[in-house]
Amino acid sequence: MDINIDVTNITIETDRLLLRPWKEADLNDFYEYASVDGVGEMAGWKHHDSIEISKKILKSFISQKNVFAIVYKENNKAIGSIGIHKSWANDDEAFKNLKAKEIGYVLAKEYWGKGLMPETVNAVINLCFDKFKLDALTICHFNTNRQSKRVIEKCGFKFVKHSKYYAEQLQLTFADMQYILINE
Ligand SMILES: CC(C)(COP(=O)(O)OP(=O)(O)OC[C@H]1O[C@@H](n2cnc3c(N)ncnc32)[C@H](O)[C@@H]1OP(=O)(O)O)[C@@H](O)C(=O)NCCC(=O)NCCS
Repeated sequence: MDINIDVTNITIETDRLLLRPWKEADLNDFYEYASVDGVGEMAGWKHHDSIEISKKILKSFISQKNVFAIVYKENNKAIGSIGIHKSWANDDEAFKNLKAKEIGYVLAKEYWGKGLMPETVNAVINLCFDKFKLDALTICHFNTNRQSKRVIEKCGFKFVKHSKYYAEQLQLTFADMQYILINE
């Protein structure tokens, strides 16, 4: 079962990060990491060739109200994003009665390997289970994306099934793996 999530008035603080709604003033930070070749591609989208593309996507983050900017407290920079989207579980016979959403994320390349995404995902899990009362969260990664696989494992998600994902911007189909975390 899909439900509407609105993060407009929500800010979460973790040890090193602030998760807050995106603002138009984040445009340069967003373009800086989204324009790097090979980052978005790991999540199925093409790196941004121009700041105009970043501007358009940023506007959609703001209007959809379901994507947080990940801000590094030390320098107050937006260094990534995490969104709460419709889940594959909403259309799966075994899970369709659960209130479930899907998490998707990306982090600027220079910040990889510091455990920042597990810190982010754990904060979003707590928000979704405690405030939004979700029954479950789901997440996917392309088979080749070992970095995201590690984040997912470290955050306690359980593997459910293999699937396929057509990435329209890349015009490629990826084998992917789908996971779930049930709110016990
Ligand atoms: C996936 C991603 C969010 C991981 O975030 P992160 O904060 O670096 O996560 P972690 O620090 O926990 O590192 C995860 C794994 O990445 C690997 N890793 C760490 N630093 C790395 C680096 N500089 N380069 C490549 N891999 C690295 C390690 O195997 C690590 O696992 P370990 O903890 O068992 O050693 C980040 O790599 C990213 O933004 N990738 C591009 C977008 C993407 O893949 N989105 C997810 C789509 S499903």
